[in-house]
Amino acid sequence: MSLMIMATVVALALCFAPAMGAAATVSARRPLRGNDTLVSAQGRFELGLFSPAGSSGDRFYLGIWYKNIPGQTVIWVGNRASPLSGLASAELRVSADDGNLELVGPTGASASPVVVWSSNRSSSSSLSSSPGSNTAEIRNDGNLVLVDGGNYSNVLWQSFDHPTDTHVPGAWIGENKLTGEYQTLTSWRNAQDPAPGMFTDIIDPNGTSEFFYMWNRSRAYWRSGVWTGQIFERLPDATESITSYEETPAYRRLTNVITDNATITRLVLDLTGQAKLYIWVPATQSWQLFWSAPTMQCEVYALCGAFGVCEHRSQLPCRCPPGFAPVSEEDWTLSDWSGGCRRSSPLTCAHNVSMMDGFLALPDMKLPDGSLAVGAAQSKAECESTCQNSCSCQAYAFSSGGGGCTVWHGEIRNLEQLYADSGVSGSELHLRLSQEGLDILHGADSKKRERTLWFVLGIPFAGVATLGASVILAWRFLLARRRRLASMEYEKGSSLTVYSYEDLRATTKNFSERLGGGSFGSVYRGVLKRHEGDNAIQVQVAVKKLEGLGGQQGDKQFRAEVSTLGLIQHVNLVRLLGFCSSGDEKMLVYEYIPRGSLDRYLFDDGGMNLSWRERYRIMIGVAKGLAYLHHGCHECIIHCDIKPENILLDEDMSPRIADFGMAKLVRRDFSHALTTMRGTIGYLAPEWISGQPINAKADVYSFGMVLFELISGRRNSKGYSEVEAIGSESSDSWTFFPVWVAGKVMEGEVSAVIDSRLRGNVTPEELERACWVACWCIQDEEARRPSMAQVVQALEGVVQVHAPPVPPALQHLVTLT
Ligand SMILES: *[C@@H]1O[C@H](CO)[C@@H](O)[C@H](O)[C@H]1NC(C)=O
Ligand SMILES: *[C@@H]1O[C@H](CO)[C@@H](O)[C@H](O)[C@H]1NC(C)=O
Ligand SMILES: *[C@@H]1O[C@H](CO)[C@@H](O)[C@H](O)[C@H]1NC(C)=O
Ligand SMILES: *[C@@H]1O[C@H](CO)[C@@H](O)[C@H](O)[C@H]1NC(C)=O
Ligand SMILES: *[C@@H]1O[C@H](CO)[C@@H](O)[C@H](O)[C@H]1NC(C)=O
Ligand SMILES: *[C@@H]1O[C@H](CO)[C@@H](O)[C@H](O)[C@H]1NC(C)=O
Ligand SMILES: *[C@@H]1O[C@H](CO)[C@@H](O)[C@H](O)[C@H]1NC(C)=O
Repeated sequence: MSLMIMATVVALALCFAPAMGAAATVSARRPLRGNDTLVSAQGRFELGLFSPAGSSGDRFYLGIWYKNIPGQTVIWVGNRASPLSGLASAELRVSADDGNLELVGPTGASASPVVVWSSNRSSSSSLSSSPGSNTAEIRNDGNLVLVDGGNYSNVLWQSFDHPTDTHVPGAWIGENKLTGEYQTLTSWRNAQDPAPGMFTDIIDPNGTSEFFYMWNRSRAYWRSGVWTGQIFERLPDATESITSYEETPAYRRLTNVITDNATITRLVLDLTGQAKLYIWVPATQSWQLFWSAPTMQCEVYALCGAFGVCEHRSQLPCRCPPGFAPVSEEDWTLSDWSGGCRRSSPLTCAHNVSMMDGFLALPDMKLPDGSLAVGAAQSKAECESTCQNSCSCQAYAFSSGGGGCTVWHGEIRNLEQLYADSGVSGSELHLRLSQEGLDILHGADSKKRERTLWFVLGIPFAGVATLGASVILAWRFLLARRRRLASMEYEKGSSLTVYSYEDLRATTKNFSERLGGGSFGSVYRGVLKRHEGDNAIQVQVAVKKLEGLGGQQGDKQFRAEVSTLGLIQHVNLVRLLGFCSSGDEKMLVYEYIPRGSLDRYLFDDGGMNLSWRERYRIMIGVAKGLAYLHHGCHECIIHCDIKPENILLDEDMSPRIADFGMAKLVRRDFSHALTTMRGTIGYLAPEWISGQPINAKADVYSFGMVLFELISGRRNSKGYSEVEAIGSESSDSWTFFPVWVAGKVMEGEVSAVIDSRLRGNVTPEELERACWVACWCIQDEEARRPSMAQVVQALEGVVQVHAPPVPPALQHLVTLT
């Protein structure tokens, strides 16, 4: 028996020894010192001591990062909460006493080296026969492992059992049922401090397969839903192919299975409390955000700390209400908002009437939880005095509807600014402020009012008298802008500019230069003058005069819907700059995209030929833009009219989707919209014709049709005679091009469908991927079509595309047109 064991040991040692020799390891004899690093065998990951980017470089942590990705992306940190203060005597070594991996070095408190981190296996549980000969290595999946010196296949400790804030393929989060240890992701405290922060991703301690994102380890703000056998109930379908759940007697865990070694992905629970899945895109040398959960920033519980207000429309998620300031400005600049806000002037809570605290009304708020209902208070005044009479009362809300009077004691968390114009109006929260605090605010307010007053009316005299020469300069500046100001305003709560009809008529030289006509009206070129300091720069814009809205679209409704469109920004979407709503005249002002629409490049004989590389980039870009509309926005936006005419090309030939949100704007007259879209019937999914409800999969269908056109360089729905020429054998009956293509793809004759103008200059794998994705997209049954997020993954080669099923019968669609 013992002989056999010996033999195994020797065999194993022989097997592993060469590998161990090749890859550098840490052992008792060979510690890792100072800024030395250890690199995994295939060179993907690197282990060493690092100082967080942007920090003053006086704190050092043991970490693992990608070796070949510029800018250090750290996936694991050992001594999260106990940094070293220098590198000089720092050492990662295997302890000769108990065989643990340990980090020693100077700390602020002690100049002589101390153990700041250890793999911390108690020697009693260690099965290692000769602890002193244990070795540690970094594997190519990013796992730092400590193996038994006497038995290399005995892993004593591994970093995958102790994740930080990042989950990489091959690692797991879950529970070790034997030891009761959990593998959780916990966010960093702030951008420069890896110490455990507020947010944790943990498997349900009650034993189900569900994952929770918890605030302060106590309150769940997002849940994955349970594992159904294929997916987690509440995770988007896009993650179906990459997440997996396993339960054995020893553990239950979520793993991330990317079968493709060439793709680099990571999931990080970041400072905003959102888990974000990133994919490394070598072409752009950047991490591309693939999805995040929760989708909306403000769904993260108490992100902005006590009294902080979360606002999804602003660049920074958190702000303090008027009369409040961040508890720590420094933390806020490092993206740690958890400290929240405090009153700039403390409450007096005096019963002396002249010193009494007052209340500031905050409209459209999502009310915080932890409220107490006060049944006795029947009016707003009674409610206010109830709060006034208790020193711990911080705020009240009163609704004459069902709500009645509610008050809040102690710190208020999870405040969120809502917007009536986006359809979710909140309640009015009355926040208690000291009289002094209110006076300061009112002072500031009245000053602001004065300023706006003379700004608009243009009466400089009072200002000149009091404010002196600087006002004269300001006035000259104002004079130059006065005409503009008189007719333009910024739409409240968004970055859109409101234009008058006259403005846009002047801008477009009386609508003289028509760029094109879409389904919902004509587009004209215009030139706006924008002032930046003393310089006026000219900006080209595209002005779309909407048709077919008639009088049915109310001004308020129109403004509300356009405002939500103004929030949508993505590199592959055309940006909306402003609008005009004057009576029946409704116009949208877009940024001008110089190269015009894709159809001109693709189908015009004289048009410039697009290379395969350009075409493939366009495919991915359009897919990303659509994926953003479908999954990335607050509300799913279905484009409804994807076709080459609505895909514009930027200077560098990257695509921008135009006309998104139109379907929503015109929904009150949808039959009209449908009629105007007749011309594009070749792109419409069967459910349009059969009258079933339309969802995002309708866009997927149209996208599939566009893919075919990008591949073949010809229109799907036009020039059937040309198609006859291609399908020459059956010239007596024409074939709808996609049907013919799908057939060829099924037969494996992918190259037969390619645009002859490319002269075979294509990347075969990309061509096959594009063809297969296109066939999947045009499936009759919506459920079989992939989501746009999956399409992006498939085109980027992140996931494998399987051969599509037998092509759908598209024929009936054609006979309808
Ligand atoms: C490592 O540290 C030494 C001295 O502390 C320094 O000279 C050397 O440039 C450092 N190497 C790297 C790669 O940072
Ligand atoms: C090691 O584990 C013990 C308990 O098992 C704990 O008290 C101690 O803080 C740990 N030490 C380190 C360095 O993690
Ligand atoms: C080596 O370790 C593995 C994994 O723990 C174990 O299954 C095996 O029995 C060990 N071999 C010896 C000779 O102890
Ligand atoms: C776990 O179960 C207990 C008792 O059934 C329940 O009170 C608790 O809310 C559960 N926890 C979670 C996170 O579901
Ligand atoms: C977080 O939880 C800890 C105890 O679990 C508590 O002491 C601390 O006050 C909590 N933090 C906040 C901001 O509530
Ligand atoms: C990925 O790499 C690992 C280790 O290098 C190898 O074992 C595995 O077979 C590779 N998988 C694929 C799909 O190439
Ligand atoms: C009430 O406040 C005023 C103004 O601060 C002060 O003069 C007065 O003495 C106070 N009265 C009492 C009873 O505290």
